Amino acid sequence: MDVLVIGPNGKTGKLLIPILLANGHRVGAMIRDESQGEDMRALGAEPLAGDLEASQAELAAVVRGHDAVIFAAGSGSKTGPEKTVDVDQNGAITLIDACRAADCRRFIMLSSMATGAPERAPEKLHPYLAAKDVADKHLSASGLDYTIARPGLLTDEPATGRIRTADNLGNIVDAGKISRADTAHILAACLDHPNTIGTSFEALAGDTEIEAAMAGL
Ligand SMILES: NC(=O)c1ccc[n+]([C@@H]2O[C@H](COP(=O)([O-])OP(=O)(O)OC[C@H]3O[C@@H](n4cnc5c(N)ncnc54)[C@H](OP(=O)(O)O)[C@@H]3O)[C@@H](O)[C@H]2O)c1
Repeated sequence: MDVLVIGPNGKTGKLLIPILLANGHRVGAMIRDESQGEDMRALGAEPLAGDLEASQAELAAVVRGHDAVIFAAGSGSKTGPEKTVDVDQNGAITLIDACRAADCRRFIMLSSMATGAPERAPEKLHPYLAAKDVADKHLSASGLDYTIARPGLLTDEPATGRIRTADNLGNIVDAGKISRADTAHILAACLDHPNTIGTSFEALAGDTEIEAAMAGL
């Protein structure tokens, strides 16, 4: 497949590219800073200029020709609630609409545990979770072939290849963590598991091999 990664220069995005390539996909990397192009080429991805704050038509031009989009972007914890709404919520919505316009049917969203259930998260995360919830609801109503992956707190630990998944894995602070490396494997595995189309699930480090966990969704 031709897969477009959004946020390819992020911590999770950079781990995702080699997995997609190893799985036989061609990878487009949407970057807003041209200086990242060389790094993307070195990873084996084709850099494509694009910004989630651009118009739907501009994003559709980037998306066109791809079979699937994996959204691994985010405004990050260093920006305020306004950027969270601009990027995590409205940028995602514009991209989802751009995918429909460009007839790119498969959309995999990196969301977060406790999205849609802020009572399971500390108050400081509520604006972020509210923005992600609006975007996730827009995606699930879009008619696209979507999957929404909701990992818990992300770490930079190496991949274990083992996870646990459920609709609700509990309180985000107490439930445990998951590495960005395992999260990247989950996002890539969604492409190979059509049973994940139309599903949302939470994920944490666990005992089940990722392939088996995904097949069981
Ligand atoms: N941190 C956690 O514990 C946690 C838990 C669950 C879910 N998540 C979700 O996982 C996501 C990925 O996490 P991460 O740590 O891998 O992210 P990250 O390292 O902060 O990377 C974010 C990426 O998003 C890109 N981006 C930001 N604004 C953009 C825009 N306007 N247009 C296009 N790209 C834009 C960044 O591009 P630049 O390189 O140009 O800045 C960067 O590549 C988070 O954003 C969050 O939604 C996080």
